[in-house]
Amino acid sequence: MSYISVVGGTGLKGEVCLQGSKNAALPVVAAAVLCNGTVTIKNCPDISDIRDLMQALSYAGIVSTLCDNVLELDTTGAKPVFFGPDLAGKTRGGVLLLGAFVGRFKEAGMAYPGGCVIGARPIDLHCKVFQRLHLDLREEEEGVFVKGTPKGARIVLPFPSVGATENAILASVCGRGRTEIMGAAREPEITELCLFLKHAGARIWGEGTSCLVIEGVPYLHATEYTLSGDRIVAGTYLAASMITGGEVVIRKTERVCMKGVLEPLRTMGAMIYREKELMYLHAPKVLQPIRFLETAPFPGFPTDMQSQTVALLSVAKGNSCICETVFESRFGVVPELLKMGADITCKDRCIFVHGKKGLCGTNVTASDLRSGAALVLAALAAEGESKISGCEYIARGYENICETLRGIGAKCSMREE
Ligand code: EPZ
Repeated sequence: MSYISVVGGTGLKGEVCLQGSKNAALPVVAAAVLCNGTVTIKNCPDISDIRDLMQALSYAGIVSTLCDNVLELDTTGAKPVFFGPDLAGKTRGGVLLLGAFVGRFKEAGMAYPGGCVIGARPIDLHCKVFQRLHLDLREEEEGVFVKGTPKGARIVLPFPSVGATENAILASVCGRGRTEIMGAAREPEITELCLFLKHAGARIWGEGTSCLVIEGVPYLHATEYTLSGDRIVAGTYLAASMITGGEVVIRKTERVCMKGVLEPLRTMGAMIYREKELMYLHAPKVLQPIRFLETAPFPGFPTDMQSQTVALLSVAKGNSCICETVFESRFGVVPELLKMGADITCKDRCIFVHGKKGLCGTNVTASDLRSGAALVLAALAAEGESKISGCEYIARGYENICETLRGIGAKCSMREE
């Protein structure tokens, strides 16, 4: 079994080249299904979530290759199939194939994607979206089946669900008539999905706002698109430099929207500035605490930076509080940080951190993607060696994390037990 070994105590200094955005790549790959021909997606991160989605698409006759971060998908042989539990459960992006396949083939079927440690991850809002688009929705034991020609509708989302917004867009861009999505998610990944679809001939207005308008078109043509960098991975590497008292330059960040990510880092004392494609961070001597911070949909503090921020605050000077308002059980990093000597308590959806000087390296286990990244951060600041198992979770979203960290001075390597 593989694990990541980290020996802490080195101030990280140097330059990181930012990978493409996982949470933009997944909906864009699903959107490629709607395009007839060969779609090229550049700056695509080579991570297991993408590889899993490529494998799922191969069962539907879509041939794809990913080489040097260029993903090519040939959808000429695409056909609707039922995506079983082995495929549907592997990556959350899989649920978006429902919107993409019903958008192109007027039918789609998939096993329930299932929950994970951060939450039950229901798809009730996705199902309501399909019903609002006048589609026939059947929920059976083996999964969800959607059938029919999507017809324009006014969809009102009670919560700005990223996935439900993405499925609403995917199902309606080639539907009949005009669709309005009120209460839409505003994440940069939604904007990226809309930009890709417009490159392919879709008619969409309002991306980045909570009100999207879509005029259905008969078909979408093949296109080429370059993804922006991953804002959460950028925030993670900024945090790695902060927690070790270093300084880092991140390249390829010109199109990366860091709203909600940089503010807490600055509150903790980081000096951060951006210039064209560069993002520069100089860590403070001592990290300052954050009295109160809560996760929220964009443009708020992103839930995907919560675990990493808890790790940072574990070594800050003073008491902090972070409340998780998006997922019901995104606290997996806490018990593992306690093993490293952190002083943390949880009550309801809030995490109370009493920052302290030294963490101790030890054996810890990642239970999800971002808690895994957070444990790497804590290990970088801890005294001695840490062994982080469950690193397959980290590989879902971080491309070559050990190599990247070694490039800025970390003692970090992937090992086999
Ligand atoms: C996307 O997940 C991201 N994943 C998540 O990133 C991110 O944390 C999340 O958006 C919030 O920004 C991808 O883009 C692949 P939601 P998604 O629908 O679409 C509830 C990471 O670490 N909900 O906005 O699943 C849901 O349970 C991952 O990269 C319903 O109740 O997020 C959650 O509590 C983790 N019913 C909340 O809404 C539904 O039908 C937010 O979910 C759908 C969602």
